Amino acid sequence: MGTITFRYSEAVPLESHRVRIVQKLELLPVEQRLAKLKEAKNNLYLLHNRDIFLDMLTDSGVNAMSDNQLAATINADDAYAGSETFYILEKKVQSLFGMEHFLPAHQGRACEKLLTDMLVKPGDLVPMNYHFTTTKAHITRCGGEVLELIKPAGLNPVSHDPFKGDIDLDALKDVLDRERQRIPFVRIEAGTNLIGGQPVSLDNMRQTAKLCKAAGVPLMMDASLLQDNLHFLKTRDEHCKNLSIKEITKEVSSLFDIIYFSARKLGFATGGGIALRDAKHLNRLKELVVRDEGFLTYGGMSTKEMAAIAIGLDETMEESVISHGPQFIEFFVNELDRLGIPVVTPPGGLGCHLDASRFVPHIPQSAYPAASLSAALYIAGGIRGMERGTLSEDRNPDGSEHFASMELLRLALPRRVFTLSQIKYAIDRIHWLWDNRQLIEGLTFTTEPEILRFFVGELAPLSDWQEKLAKAFRRDFADSL
Ligand SMILES: Cc1ncc(COP(=O)(O)O)c(C=O)c1O
Repeated sequence: MGTITFRYSEAVPLESHRVRIVQKLELLPVEQRLAKLKEAKNNLYLLHNRDIFLDMLTDSGVNAMSDNQLAATINADDAYAGSETFYILEKKVQSLFGMEHFLPAHQGRACEKLLTDMLVKPGDLVPMNYHFTTTKAHITRCGGEVLELIKPAGLNPVSHDPFKGDIDLDALKDVLDRERQRIPFVRIEAGTNLIGGQPVSLDNMRQTAKLCKAAGVPLMMDASLLQDNLHFLKTRDEHCKNLSIKEITKEVSSLFDIIYFSARKLGFATGGGIALRDAKHLNRLKELVVRDEGFLTYGGMSTKEMAAIAIGLDETMEESVISHGPQFIEFFVNELDRLGIPVVTPPGGLGCHLDASRFVPHIPQSAYPAASLSAALYIAGGIRGMERGTLSEDRNPDGSEHFASMELLRLALPRRVFTLSQIKYAIDRIHWLWDNRQLIEGLTFTTEPEILRFFVGELAPLSDWQEKLAKAFRRDFADSL
């Protein structure tokens, strides 16, 4: 199918779905937003959903389901063991990835737990393009160490590089030569989350696979954000221009030995799974699934979710479906960039990423600039984003802060959820915040968990800056929520 172009009006991203079920939203007045933020201890995870106007925290488990997905949930075959729905999902994964074995798990981090329990031992080193929070937590839990080998452009927030998620091949070759015995696998994350949803090129994956094969090290893909990566391969990679999304998926997956995914993202539902090329680890992994997740034909997922994932994976093979998110994100990023507001470029998948290092350069990393910006944006617009910076890193073993390479505020766009006018509202409030950025100050922990502290940690502002910000908002928006 060709693309749809506008002849007379401004070109904007165009949805190829219609909305049939809606959920009412309410925007609390700024004074109440301030009060709710305090009740949530300045951790936006601890807000109630009803107090949020635009929830851009994540795309995880909150993508809109299609009519076909919902219909499939009604027909799901409920059984503890032997559910027909599981076999449908298994067949779908096997055929899309060209892999022989599939094991279910309840979400992405469960796959990571199973795989690291099986493969990582104390002293191991796991090279990867970039870490994800839960992946790193499981590798370190097993006594391993994460080695990030993202190429330099990946950590440059302002770039024209279309594939910032690529791994540095020279560095990978070097570590495979030197440390082969300590490396249980190499991990490539598609649509690299924490550097701004940035894709990996096909050639980079091919070269990585070649190096791993030569060294006899298995290559694993975290495919949670594969759908965005597929879209960017189709639109930015010369090698993929003339291939269908299905063909690109086959080509990509043929390079990997193990593929795991969070189906809260890939498949637009809730769940997860692991595909394996060969049977080497199958029996051990089956034992772990049964012990930790549930029987082999559900692995912690409801049969309804498995039915929805199977259809969602089919929909992922349609360019008109997977292009929706990236096109909206591109609009979001380009509009902010045009206004001179610091964002990660080029636009990636998953969401629009504000660069807090440049938005609030007066806040040191020790006072969590991206978390402070996320609190400020909730006050300014009832918008919930997710801190992706130092707060999302746990402390070093000696108790010192582990300063993140990038300080980002991610504004995720769950698929098929937001309208263009909602994006324009977000741009308007971010613009206001940019004009008032000197009012934003830092945060400090009042309760700090040791592991994945960003999820449930509690924080407080370092001064009364939030009251001042709310007052400034009320002054400028006298009659508006
Ligand atoms: C790249 C990546 N891997 C793993 C996960 C973990 O998946 P889940 O949230 O389903 O546990 C996520 C979730 O955001 C992710 O983005």
